[in-house]
Amino acid sequence: MQDKINEIERQVDESVKDVTSSKSLQEIKLKFLGKTGKISELMKNMRDVPPEQRPSMGKLLNALRQWTEEKFSSLEALIKDAELKKKYEIEKIDVTLPAKRAPEGAYHPNTLVRNELISIFSGMGFEVFEGPEIENDYYNFTALNTPADHPARDMQDTFYLSQDLLLRTQTSAGQIRYMENKKPPLKVLSPGKVYRSDDDATHSPMFSQMEGLVVDKGITLCDLKGMLDEFAKKIFGTEIKTRLRPSYFPFTEPSVEVDVSCSECGGKGCRLCKGTGWIEVLGAGMVNRRVLEVCGVDPDIYSGFAFGMGIERIAMLKYGINNMKFLFEGDTRLLKQFKA
Ligand code: PHE
Repeated sequence: MQDKINEIERQVDESVKDVTSSKSLQEIKLKFLGKTGKISELMKNMRDVPPEQRPSMGKLLNALRQWTEEKFSSLEALIKDAELKKKYEIEKIDVTLPAKRAPEGAYHPNTLVRNELISIFSGMGFEVFEGPEIENDYYNFTALNTPADHPARDMQDTFYLSQDLLLRTQTSAGQIRYMENKKPPLKVLSPGKVYRSDDDATHSPMFSQMEGLVVDKGITLCDLKGMLDEFAKKIFGTEIKTRLRPSYFPFTEPSVEVDVSCSECGGKGCRLCKGTGWIEVLGAGMVNRRVLEVCGVDPDIYSGFAFGMGIERIAMLKYGINNMKFLFEGDTRLLKQFKA
């Protein structure tokens, strides 16, 4: 019997010698300790052992069984440990590796100018109101003192969606919508996209405007001029001058066009200002009595001024961009230059 035991011990040692995985270790373990394993078989044979030898034999077998179990469990621990280490090694992350950089975005020059304008005018007490891009004829034209067949409708080549609906040609439509609901005194700023059937180096079928409207008692053209001087200095620099030129818009009377001194040549005359020393930046004027009337505001008590500027135009001047198409192409080589 002792020989058998020695033989089994030898076999156990032999068969686990090269085991590296816990799975094959488990299989080998079954061969010895499983129900039909070698050690279990030996134990079953105890029946044939004479009773007086059983206690000592039993002791030996139990010792063998215990030895084998311990052998397997310590091996199991070792192998599991090695396997875990291997797994960690494979899944290792090198935290010192430089990360892939996500491309960094930048605000579009239009957005920068829009935000700057909003911040300048909010500082002067303006509220922001945005009207719809699809307007009806009434808000875009008729209420702005431009009835059907008025020749001034030709000033703005319009995209009509139906007899009555159109893509708004000017943010001035927002003036009416705002005044219908708010009574003076009021100060409102209305940014947004506008559409005109127009396309060349300085015009695009879609562009953005910033509208301003102030209505109160005793508002004059001087207030408009003073406020625009302040705005021009803030956006283009303190050395900038402004001037008003007579113009025509159906919804303002008198109407003006506002020029700023050319930032490129300081007013001497250059290619940018076409030799005049001045650059036109916006249209403005005193709100026409007819417009106040249709909004239910008494023009004998209140007066107001309005102005409207092209945001792209301001961006082109401010950042020296010489073709409007650059503002619509989304070329990242241009946009990257505006990273804060
Ligand atoms: N709406 C005019 C335009 O688009 C600009 C303007 C606004 C003029 C407000 C006067 C007053 O050309």
